[in-house]
Amino acid sequence: VSRVLRLQTPALLVDAAALEANLSAMSAALPGARLRPHVKAHKCTELARRQQQLGHHSFTCATIREMEVMAKAGLGSDLLLANEVLDCSRLIPLADAGARVTVAVDSPETVKAAAAAGIAEVLIDVNVGMPRCGCEPSDAGRLADEARSRGLTVRGVLGYEGHAVGLEDRPRRLQEVEEAMAKLVTAHRNVGGDTVSAGGTGSYDINQVATEIQAGSYALMDTAYAKLGLPFRHALTILATVISANPAGWAVADCGLKALGMDHGNPAIAGGGPVWFCSDEHIVFSAAEGRALPAVGEQVEVLPAHIDPTVAYHDRMHLVDDDHVEILDVWPVDMRGW
Ligand SMILES: Cc1ncc(COP(=O)(O)O)c(C=O)c1O
Repeated sequence: VSRVLRLQTPALLVDAAALEANLSAMSAALPGARLRPHVKAHKCTELARRQQQLGHHSFTCATIREMEVMAKAGLGSDLLLANEVLDCSRLIPLADAGARVTVAVDSPETVKAAAAAGIAEVLIDVNVGMPRCGCEPSDAGRLADEARSRGLTVRGVLGYEGHAVGLEDRPRRLQEVEEAMAKLVTAHRNVGGDTVSAGGTGSYDINQVATEIQAGSYALMDTAYAKLGLPFRHALTILATVISANPAGWAVADCGLKALGMDHGNPAIAGGGPVWFCSDEHIVFSAAEGRALPAVGEQVEVLPAHIDPTVAYHDRMHLVDDDHVEILDVWPVDMRGW
């Protein structure tokens, strides 16, 4: 019996070769500081270390916890919290210990909070078309002035085109990214600074405006991004065990929605087999065309539709060889929590 088969399921498997191929492909396209990898997609300092070894020394985070763990792991040479926080006090010890900390601000309140806590550097977060954080492009200059008047260094602007990165139709994606970035350019003109931080896996080769791209999902991938025809492979699957099989034609495996991010829809079963639905602890599916239904005790691999929330449910990932029978390493998902 292989070591993988002896894993308690559900368990995250990372195909080491696919991960390396994804990391290398992105680093070739966006070398060094052109990529500011977003760690929220993997929440794993071991994986971030691989990204650093490939030449990326600046990282994007979504939570204070991610900032703390990255700094503690010695990966804090340039950390951007691309999110609004009203209590920055936990970030000060990181800066005191030598990490470079930049936070996003989009309001007088967040500027005030950053200044009050003693944060040195900010980016003005600009709304570029998605209902999320970010000030109006026309307010960005005023907010930058206010930040500077409070002693903050404004490094530039941030504007995430999240409404565009997942569009399957490439010409439409191009168009939407272009329109979003036109807003960011306008804001940047009034803000100043060297940095225009934007983009994600779906726009890494399209966004011509950003000085740095904040892609994260490319490393492990998911079925939503796989539809875009990007040069990144599925590196992460969830190993599950078939715990029940019904002669009427369905099987149940132990990977339910408490082990999976479901906001991008149902996952898929590697090798086929229509997924019927997921409940708390179950994935229910039928046999792939021309194949038998897996028997009780057999293992299947599940491909998540959305990588970030999926990884966040698990406390470790198992790096496996090409055949997924040997565990090469175990990496803690050490940036979970807030
Ligand atoms: C601020 C920010 N930047 C970039 C990204 C892109 O990440 P990904 O490459 O996983 O799409 C996200 C994803 O939600 C984000 O919130």
